[in-house]
Amino acid sequence: MDKRTVLITGGAGYIGSHIAYLCALSGYQVIVLDSFVHNNYFAPSWATVIKSDYANAHVLDSIFSLHKIDAVIHCAAFIEVGESVRDPLAFYDNNVTKTVTLLQKMMQWGVHNFIFSSSCAVYGQPHYLPLTESHPQQPMSPYGHTKAMIEKIVEDVAQAHGLRFIALRYFNAAGAFPEQGLGELHTNETHLIPLMLDALLMRKPFTIFGIDYQTKDGTAIRDFVHVRDIAHAHLLALEHLHQGNPSDCFNLGTGVGYSIKEVVEMMQRISGIMLKTIVAPRRLGDPALLIADPQKAFMILKWKPHYSQLEFILKSALIFHKELLHKKEMYYSSATAF
Ligand SMILES: NC(=O)c1ccc[n+]([C@@H]2O[C@H](COP(=O)([O-])OP(=O)(O)OC[C@H]3O[C@@H](n4cnc5c(N)ncnc54)[C@H](O)[C@@H]3O)[C@@H](O)[C@H]2O)c1
Repeated sequence: MDKRTVLITGGAGYIGSHIAYLCALSGYQVIVLDSFVHNNYFAPSWATVIKSDYANAHVLDSIFSLHKIDAVIHCAAFIEVGESVRDPLAFYDNNVTKTVTLLQKMMQWGVHNFIFSSSCAVYGQPHYLPLTESHPQQPMSPYGHTKAMIEKIVEDVAQAHGLRFIALRYFNAAGAFPEQGLGELHTNETHLIPLMLDALLMRKPFTIFGIDYQTKDGTAIRDFVHVRDIAHAHLLALEHLHQGNPSDCFNLGTGVGYSIKEVVEMMQRISGIMLKTIVAPRRLGDPALLIADPQKAFMILKWKPHYSQLEFILKSALIFHKELLHKKEMYYSSATAF
């Protein structure tokens, strides 16, 4: 039987690259479509990588005409919440308008399976915890709105044109796969663990935003899920669609929350390095607690997070960051040698 082919937009990014690797490992032919907004190096032997905007109509025509695409896994997006508040139009354009173009091209070429990188940001301030998929959607940022809007758009396209989709609402993606050189690397990093690692390894102060939340130690609580577990859920989602199951959405989290202070303490213990912390006011729109109810993904997709123990998440991220730093040092020392 021919290999199934998946097109992964944003497949050179943090989560997309892990999904791409697991798909390739599971026998899929993988095409990555990414514009490399982070200028990262990504040239694996196990995928075809096309550097382009994911909504470039000519590029999409050529991909869909040359390959029989079984499913599109749509990870490409602008992801920085604060930036979405400062420049909402860029986010609505990159995340929403361009997704419409992608869906139009999919419909034109008869590609009907779609897996979407959604987010717990669709929920907004929790009314109850843990968050189930039926929790009201009241996003607190343009970023969150883009995710909720795309979910709505794909529902309508499913009704009208027979699109079949799975929206996976990730909670805090974290950890790395250093054995494959994969990990979290964003320009303008805002995510907790890479910021903490940068502070730790560069001996810089680390800022905790808010110590006056109504939580056990005053810091915010988040549900960290290992990126490899997130990637694995995409394989299950692909299988779910192949088996003819209906379109659906699923939370991807562990159901267990850790406070920022707990993460800091565990990171210090694992690395043997003390972090100098600074306290700053809460960031606008950061809820005190975000914890998933992942039962639906457990029951229906048969998804189980295997790598999401906090200690393993932090260890894998630490190894990846140390290697990254080492590569940068090698680069700068060889550059200054001339
Ligand atoms: N990281 C998280 O904790 C988290 C949580 C919830 C949801 N998500 C979603 O998961 C997806 C992946 O997130 P990530 O953390 O891997 O981000 P990332 O920035 O590492 O990856 C996104 C990739 O999309 C690419 N991209 C952006 N705009 C593009 C365009 N117009 N054309 C082509 N490529 C484009 C970027 O170059 C990048 O490689 C995003 O949709 C994000 O909103 C992430």
